[in-house]
Amino acid sequence: MLRIAILGSGALASYFAARLHEKAEVHMFGHWKARLNALKSEGLSLTERDGSKSQVQLRVSELNDFPHYFDVVLVLVKAWQTPEAAKEASQLIAKKPSAFVLSLQNGIGNVPQLKSEVDQSVFAGTTLQGAKINGLAGVAASGTGSIFLPSSIDSGFIEILRIAGFEVHLADDLVSLLWSKLLINAAINPLTGAFGITNGTLLKSASLKAFLGDLALEVAELAKAKSIDLLYTDPVAEVERVALDTEENTSSMLADLRRGAPTELEAITGFLLQEAGLQGLSLPQNKVVYQWMKEKLAGQVPSDAVYQSIAQELANAG
Ligand code: PAF
Repeated sequence: MLRIAILGSGALASYFAARLHEKAEVHMFGHWKARLNALKSEGLSLTERDGSKSQVQLRVSELNDFPHYFDVVLVLVKAWQTPEAAKEASQLIAKKPSAFVLSLQNGIGNVPQLKSEVDQSVFAGTTLQGAKINGLAGVAASGTGSIFLPSSIDSGFIEILRIAGFEVHLADDLVSLLWSKLLINAAINPLTGAFGITNGTLLKSASLKAFLGDLALEVAELAKAKSIDLLYTDPVAEVERVALDTEENTSSMLADLRRGAPTELEAITGFLLQEAGLQGLSLPQNKVVYQWMKEKLAGQVPSDAVYQSIAQELANAG
C-alpha cells in the first residue's frame, strides 16, 4: 500500500486524509495540538457536500516515529508555514528515487522552499477542493474536488486520488498551473476576507462582481507581462465560474481572519504587488483590496468610500 504523509491538520489536510485513508496508508502530522488530540480520541467527523456524514479514524502520528517512511508527502499547510513543513518533509520522505513531495498549497513560493530542504522530487499542483473546519474534530467539504497536477507525477498516485473521488486534471506547465490558481486566489480570497462573505456572495452584488473581474484582469495583465500563459483564456469568466462552483465556501483567507490566524495575504496579493512593481505595473484594485485586508487584520473597518458603499449594498441586499 502506498504510504502517504499529510502535513497539516486544518480543513483541507483533514479532508484529504479522510478521503485517502482507506486507499493508502495515510498518516497526518500537524501542530494544532487540541485538534490532533481530538482527532486521536474521537476520530474525524466528515460531512460531505451532499450532507452525508461519517466517522473516520485517522492515523495521527509523530514525526520522529516515521523517519524516511513515506512514498508521498502531501503538503497542505498555509504558505507561511512552508519553511517548517520543508524540514518535516525531509525527515519523513523515503530515501528512494520514486518518493516525492507534493504541495497543493496556495501561493507561488512553496516549491523553492520545499526544494531547499528535500533531495527527492518536489511537485506542486493546485486544487479547487474546499473544506471547512467543523468543530474541533470535524471537517465539512465544500467546493469541487478538482485537482490539477503536473503530468510527470506517478500514475499510481493519480489513480489513488481518482479512486478516492477527486477529479484529477493533468497539466505540463507548472508556472502556468500555479499562476492560474494564484489569479483565482488573488481575486476571491482578499475580497471575501474584506467583506466577510462566502465566495458565492461575490456574484450577488454588481459592484463586487465588477471588482472581482478587475482583480482577475490585473493579475492576467501581470502574467502576460511575465510571458506566463494561463490555463484559461477568459480570466473574468474563470474566476466567476470558481466563485459559483465554490459558492458556499468560506475562503481560506476569511476563515483565517475569523479565527485570528495569520493569513496568506502576503503570499498572494503581497507577492503580486511586488512582482508588479518589478514589471512597472501597479495593479490598482489589488492594491485597494490589499489595503482593506490590512485594515481588517488590524481589527478596523476600512473607511474608504468604495468599501463603505459596497458594504451598504450588501447590507441592503440582506
Ligand atoms: O483558498 C481558497 O479558499 C480556495 O483556494 C478557493 C478556490 C478560493 C475556494 O475557496
